[in-house]
Amino acid sequence: MSDDESATMYKVLVTGDSSVGKTNIISRFTSNEFALENKATIGVEFGHAEVTVSDGTEVKVQIWDTAGQERFRAITRGYYRGAHAALIVFDITKAATFKNVPKWLSELHEHADKDITVMLVGNKSDLKTNREVATEEAKKYAQQNSLLYIETSALDGENISEAFNTTIDTMH
Ligand code: GTP
Repeated sequence: MSDDESATMYKVLVTGDSSVGKTNIISRFTSNEFALENKATIGVEFGHAEVTVSDGTEVKVQIWDTAGQERFRAITRGYYRGAHAALIVFDITKAATFKNVPKWLSELHEHADKDITVMLVGNKSDLKTNREVATEEAKKYAQQNSLLYIETSALDGENISEAFNTTIDTMH
């Protein structure tokens, strides 16, 4: 492995409405932990992971957990620059969080780099009986806007590593 390869570091932003599960998606991925209590992120927090991409290269990933609450928007915006990829998360049991996805996407287009890879994530797939957003509807929106799409559960771990690995593979 050359020095260049060992130094590969990707910055991945995680955005989306408050309480959709951003912090828990990250903690499930980086440390296999999940918390039931709802503790809002203040500003921005960080996670780290090492991922082996499909060509066998090991890359370091810096994950930026941004607060979903409106009152932190001016702070979180300042962290978009230099991101290689972003996960826009919504809650499949809360239609309002899906309706806000275009708002998060335009925030990215305004404040992040133009060629950023974006994965749309429908979280809380363990709560399928309370589903308010159809998979097909979310998939269609993703296709129309050139986003990847996946459904995850931070609670049971479904598709959590796939969400990050596919995103990182796509941008690598
Ligand atoms: P902000 O920091 O305010 O932006 O919220 P957030 O998007 O980081 O949400 P957080 O990870 O704090 O999760 C909010 C609540 O949803 C918590 O009570 C979590 O336990 C719960 N939660 C997160 N992911 C899941 C999931 O996949 N399934 C279920 N059932 N609950 C989840």
